[in-house]
Amino acid sequence: MKRISIAIDGPAAAGKSTVAKKLAEKLSYLYIDTGAMYRALTYLALQKGIDVHDEQALLTLLRDTYIELKPSDQGQLVFVNGEDVTTVIRGEAVTNHVSFVAKHPLVRKEMVARQQALGANGGVVMDGRDIGTHVLPHAEVKIFLKASVEERARRRHAENMARGFASDFETLKEEIARRDKIDSERQVAPLTKAEDAVEIDTTSLTIDDVVSEIMKIVNERIG
Ligand code: CDP
Ligand code: CDP
Repeated sequence: MKRISIAIDGPAAAGKSTVAKKLAEKLSYLYIDTGAMYRALTYLALQKGIDVHDEQALLTLLRDTYIELKPSDQGQLVFVNGEDVTTVIRGEAVTNHVSFVAKHPLVRKEMVARQQALGANGGVVMDGRDIGTHVLPHAEVKIFLKASVEERARRRHAENMARGFASDFETLKEEIARRDKIDSERQVAPLTKAEDAVEIDTTSLTIDDVVSEIMKIVNERIG
């Protein structure tokens, strides 16, 4: 059977990674969380005291940084230069800085090259903000997930509680809206729906509803 590429984009907490992981499992495809790559670099920059507005310093750091995404029984693990950063990259410090790191054109160029190399053989589900528009512009299936900001904040809040992170609903709503704005307004590869993407509003859908809707589209493409 043809092993296609599936691009899943959308704003924060729209359900991209949960849905992408499930699709990858069903299809026995590789799952690539590109947001985790930007988060991993942000974590390292904060650790090293590098200014998130200093593009050259971030680029130099990235060129020396090995980011690994490893599937495991507990979900995808993220390693930076051998350190397991899976949980810490979801914390407030990284979340509040990541969109500044992801704004820099040279940082994005390097990240996109790594993501394209990972997805080069097809059989991949990749999620992010610019997958359908820039990373995998020829992906056979492109999905743009959205949901109301209230619903997305509710989901992230529940997730934070489950992780044992401190969490305040109103603050989260503001943080999500602020990050969406920076991601949508940046000059290079802003968050936007690809012309040929199928948009799904997940506000009142379950994860399984979304997965089966996308699987219908995938099955049509696979034939
Ligand atoms: O999980 P959540 O949707 O909150 O964020 P994420 O997917 O982990 O992405 C974190 C941040 O990385 C985003 O807010 C963007 O600033 C950036 N990002 C990006 O610019 N391009 C991507 N392909 C993926 C993420
Ligand atoms: O990757 P992204 O930031 O777009 O979102 P996510 O991390 O996959 O989803 C955020 C949270 O919302 C997760 O805890 C999902 O289980 C939950 N979710 C949901 O409750 N209903 C959906 N239709 C999709 C996701």
